[in-house]
Amino acid sequence: MHNNEIPVITIDGPSASGKGTIAQLVAAKLGFHYLDSGALYRLVALKAAQSLADTKNYDLLSSIARNLDVKFNGQVIYLDGKSVTDDIRTEECGILASQLAAYPDIREALKERQREFRQPPGLVTDGRDMGSVIFPNAILKVFLTASAEIRAQRRYKQLIEKGMNANIANLLHDIEKRDERDSNRSIAPLQQGADTRLLDTTSLTISQAQDTVLSWYNEICAKTRV
Ligand code: DC
Repeated sequence: MHNNEIPVITIDGPSASGKGTIAQLVAAKLGFHYLDSGALYRLVALKAAQSLADTKNYDLLSSIARNLDVKFNGQVIYLDGKSVTDDIRTEECGILASQLAAYPDIREALKERQREFRQPPGLVTDGRDMGSVIFPNAILKVFLTASAEIRAQRRYKQLIEKGMNANIANLLHDIEKRDERDSNRSIAPLQQGADTRLLDTTSLTISQAQDTVLSWYNEICAKTRV
């Protein structure tokens, strides 16, 4: 199968919209691979923080992005051979990731690495520019969102479950700031493209959201077979 024919489902959306959860469930259901592209930006942020890199030194940061020693093993993510699965999920790491993600060279450095995840029998990926930039010929593009308040509540629950400190008001503030930065940057901003289906999960359960994506995918497959 030619690389371009391997089906890709992209699920883009704002921070804490639940796109990671839905993308993983859909991938598991279809037996597809899964790429959490935000994790790559978070890994660059973590590595930059660990090496005390100057966050204005774009050359150094792009070289960090290009040379990341990363391994994904199911839910576990390794950086330089060490599990950093929880370390990259902190709010600080997310905020730095969002700041670094506005640099074109860093985005460019991660492009090929993301495309390498397109392997048979298919890929489900989530992020901000998966449908618009990385996989423009994806078979199904979803823009998954929810109100900022609901997203803050979901993120709160997630952090508390991981035993981390969290405060709803601060989370809401961070989410709104991150939305603004991710949506208004000049390169690869978070936007719903004309070829993308909107899925607002504010009042949907996880399983309803998952079923909607699967039904859209099945509908497209049925049409392409005719
Ligand atoms: O999805 P996330 O919250 O883990 O992503 C962390 C940050 O990385 C997000 O605020 C913006 C950036 N990002 C991006 O610019 N493009 C992507 N495809 C994925 C994430």
